[in-house]
Amino acid sequence: MRCHVATSCHVVWLFVLISGCWGQVNRLPFFTNHFFDTYLLISEDTPVGSSVTQLLARDMDNDPLVFGVSGEEASRFFAVEPDTGVVWLRQPLDRETKSEFTVEFSVSDHQGVITRKVNIQVGDVNDNAPTFHNQPYSVRILENTPVGTPIFIVNATDPDLGAGGSVLYSFQPPSQFFAIDSARGIVTVIRELDYETTQAYQLTVNATDQDKTRPLSMLANLAIIITDVQDMDPIFINLPYSTNIYEHSPPPWWRLGFPLTRAWGLRRLRRLRRLRRLRWLRRLRRLRRLRRLRRLRRLRRLRRLRRLRRLRRLRRLRQLRRLRRLRRLRRLRRLRPLRRLRRLRRLRRLRRLRRLRRRLRRLRPLRRLRRLRRLRRLRRLRRLRRLRRLRPLRRLRRLRRLRRLRRLRRLRPLRRLRRLRRLRRLRRLRRLRRLRRLRPLRRLRRLRRLRRLRRTSSLTPDAWSLGRVSPGKSGPLLSGKVLDNYWRGKS
Ligand SMILES: *[C@@H]1O[C@H](CO)[C@@H](O)[C@H](O)[C@H]1NC(C)=O
Ligand SMILES: *[C@@H]1O[C@H](CO)[C@@H](O)[C@H](O)[C@H]1NC(C)=O
Repeated sequence: MRCHVATSCHVVWLFVLISGCWGQVNRLPFFTNHFFDTYLLISEDTPVGSSVTQLLARDMDNDPLVFGVSGEEASRFFAVEPDTGVVWLRQPLDRETKSEFTVEFSVSDHQGVITRKVNIQVGDVNDNAPTFHNQPYSVRILENTPVGTPIFIVNATDPDLGAGGSVLYSFQPPSQFFAIDSARGIVTVIRELDYETTQAYQLTVNATDQDKTRPLSMLANLAIIITDVQDMDPIFINLPYSTNIYEHSPPPWWRLGFPLTRAWGLRRLRRLRRLRRLRWLRRLRRLRRLRRLRRLRRLRRLRRLRRLRRLRRLRRLRQLRRLRRLRRLRRLRRLRPLRRLRRLRRLRRLRRLRRLRRRLRRLRPLRRLRRLRRLRRLRRLRRLRRLRRLRPLRRLRRLRRLRRLRRLRRLRPLRRLRRLRRLRRLRRLRRLRRLRRLRPLRRLRRLRRLRRLRRTSSLTPDAWSLGRVSPGKSGPLLSGKVLDNYWRGKS
């Protein structure tokens, strides 16, 4: 309370003056916020333009109050709404650059002004990713570096507080040959290296902070260059952080050398140097021999490969030739039956043709016949046509003539026969009439005469045969007709 009075003593003085003039005592307002006694915590990720807090004050006279902020830096970051006392953030806060402010706020009832300072603490948020130092990272190591030797330290820091500021390291992706200590960032060899297979490694180190909700991480490249043991030079000394690395690893042999030479003299040094030179030379010779051997081996391999290739080519050529021969043979084989077939077909065709010719020869007379028949038919038809064309009378006449002729031809023998028959009949009738006309006596006489004659005269054999008369008998009479004929023949 004393402090309060002391800070605002000039205000009190003014107040006494004014109250003396009006004869009435004005009581000044006072802040009621508790953070004036302790501190106000504002998170560093509070967005610009948002309200941070509200100033509260009381005035016993119930005068209208006006709030404000004083100080150049404070008014860059904070603005106070005069009527309500709401405090706005005007600029982004960053705990990592300024973690606390002392801000003076004021309240006035138009008669007097009260100011009060507040301690503003900026609250930490994990808003920074770890940062690597002393980049780029590259290190040369010997091919025969033993397993477990630390070779490098990476260093990344995170300005955030707490877990958000503690960094863990890892290789991403993990390496088969190197490991990194997750807390200290010490890189060690975990597998024997071989310059012949790999001359350099490119690793990616991931540094991530330990924030539970939103861990932030950063990547850095680490180049590890492997040097051949024979090409050894004291590059190892220039390693960054070499003091740290060799804390736990045995010191290299050449470091031991210097104190010994100082103690034992120059000769030893020279001897050592000679020895070293000799060793170098020997190593070089060995290496040269090895290299020559390798070259020779490579050459031999190449020659073998070339020979093999030539052989392969030759073999391929031979195989190709064999294949071609085989193909030709196969084609020929395939062709042989074809040729046979063709020959057979030709022969068959020829046979067919011959058969056809024979048939044709056989058929020719038949054809002639047919032609003849056709011709005859045609002639008949022509005749008929001619006839048809002729007048019907002529036709008739001709037909009649023809018929008559035919009839005559047919009738001639018949008529002759009939005439003969008629004649015969007439003759018979005439004879009969003559006989009837004769007197029965004459008949008798004649008969008797005849009988006498027959008995007496020798009869001609004809008469005997005709009269069926046996010679010794005076048999039955011959029929008149026969006799008639007989006599007619004699006369
Ligand atoms: C890492 O770097 C920081 C800043 O340069 C330094 O303060 C710290 O000592 C370093 N840590 C190690 C292990 O070298
Ligand atoms: C780094 O490692 C952490 C933990 O393994 C992982 O969450 C993060 O994604 C990694 N960072 C990058 C950039 O890959």
